[in-house]
Amino acid sequence: MSLPFPQGFLWGGSVAANQLEGAYQEDGKGLSIQDVLPHGVKTPPTKEPTEDNLRLVGIDFYHRYHEDIKLFAEMGFKTFRTSIAWSRIFPKGDETEPNEKGLQFYDRLFDECLKYGIEPMVTLSHYETPLHLAREYNGWANRKLVDFYTHFARTVFTRYKNKVKYWLTFNEINSILEHPFMSGGIVTPKKELRLQDLYQAIHHELVASAAAVKIGHEINPEFMIGCMVLSLPTYPLTPHPDDVIQAMFTDHQNTFFLEVHARGRYPGYMKRFFKESGIHLHFEPGDEETLAHTVDFIAFSYYMSICETAGPENRPKGEGNLFGGVTNPYLPSSEWGWQIDPQGLRYIMNVFHDRYQKPLFIVENGLGAADQPITNDGGELTVEDDYRIDYLRAHLLQVAEAIADGVEVWGYLVWGCIDLVSNSTAEMKKRYGLIYVDRQDDGTGTLRRYRKKSFHWYRKVIGSNGQSLYEDES
Ligand code: BG6
Repeated sequence: MSLPFPQGFLWGGSVAANQLEGAYQEDGKGLSIQDVLPHGVKTPPTKEPTEDNLRLVGIDFYHRYHEDIKLFAEMGFKTFRTSIAWSRIFPKGDETEPNEKGLQFYDRLFDECLKYGIEPMVTLSHYETPLHLAREYNGWANRKLVDFYTHFARTVFTRYKNKVKYWLTFNEINSILEHPFMSGGIVTPKKELRLQDLYQAIHHELVASAAAVKIGHEINPEFMIGCMVLSLPTYPLTPHPDDVIQAMFTDHQNTFFLEVHARGRYPGYMKRFFKESGIHLHFEPGDEETLAHTVDFIAFSYYMSICETAGPENRPKGEGNLFGGVTNPYLPSSEWGWQIDPQGLRYIMNVFHDRYQKPLFIVENGLGAADQPITNDGGELTVEDDYRIDYLRAHLLQVAEAIADGVEVWGYLVWGCIDLVSNSTAEMKKRYGLIYVDRQDDGTGTLRRYRKKSFHWYRKVIGSNGQSLYEDES
């Protein structure tokens, strides 16, 4: 059989600074919005960081990254995606001068990756807006954020121009629709936030993202700069044309961000939506030209699909990755109620490819589960996570199908390749890793790292460039 995955396919794993670094005030770091979200998106922010916020320590990656990168190298990672915590570089977000100690940390981290031939991929903004920008400016609702963000982007692009080639502008930029504080640092409670202000904030992010693409390419023309969305294949619940149109509408709302990033302009359906909703986007002079700086590739997370229906019946919303949707009667769910749909990945890759004709990069995919560690014959802790292997394998086989369909995809990164604090619920119990970290929800644990069964499985997958996925079958 010919190999489905192209030579040079970028296998690896993905994390975000706020979910694993810890050291939340070390070396001059300022507070980020995550430092006041001890229970994720489920409860409102606290005034100050509280001890029950697991992110304050994370998995102590800030001090243990040597060991972790070595384990990633042992699995054969070609790429490691992390974010730069904005508040390490600009503690409040609106300073002119960066915090040198914060910059030095990422110098050391990227050097460590490069030592093993691992290509770092950096997200500029992964749900970690400096808290000061949220409280003082109301986050992205304020146009000034465009300047603060582009200054941050310019600073890190310049600093790491010879170390980092792959960049993402905003993690899951479309999640601002559901979570304006976590995603956009907007303190106005969601219920009180006018659509006008929400979409103006989105416009600010889109302009900032395009400006970052322009600046990045000026600093190093070799940079590959992508946008990143939360992908959510949206199926009509029934073949009734009303359901089909409703599914199309929901999909448009969630993915118009890609249209702007890939084509450099707002699509007609959004112009119609703005008109019918009484939304008047304010464009500053030059915004149109800035938006024309389109991305080099489209990155996305994929965990699940949803259904949509026009009728009020069957509308109970299931759990889901920040959005949720109408439950699909044909799919099983994870322990956290996220519906598992490997074929949805092939489907969405084809949709994105057909629409945008840009290379794709799957930068997040994985299974959150309550792992039960056991002691193996050698006396070491491990996790027999066959369920995770099954999940990853099923999804990777669909990536191979999409490649066979003609989709250009540069790589695949397992989310939370090492156990970390989950985002939406801020817990350790929900684990994604191929590496088990002994840290528990009550804050106890040695923080020691252990290889899970999936660690050895993924090493084989990478080592064979995907061929072992087919051998498992026999
Ligand atoms: C994505 C985020 O939404 O999904 C990650 O980019 C997050 O930050 C991941 O961790 C999984 O979600 P959760 O809520 O299970 O951690």
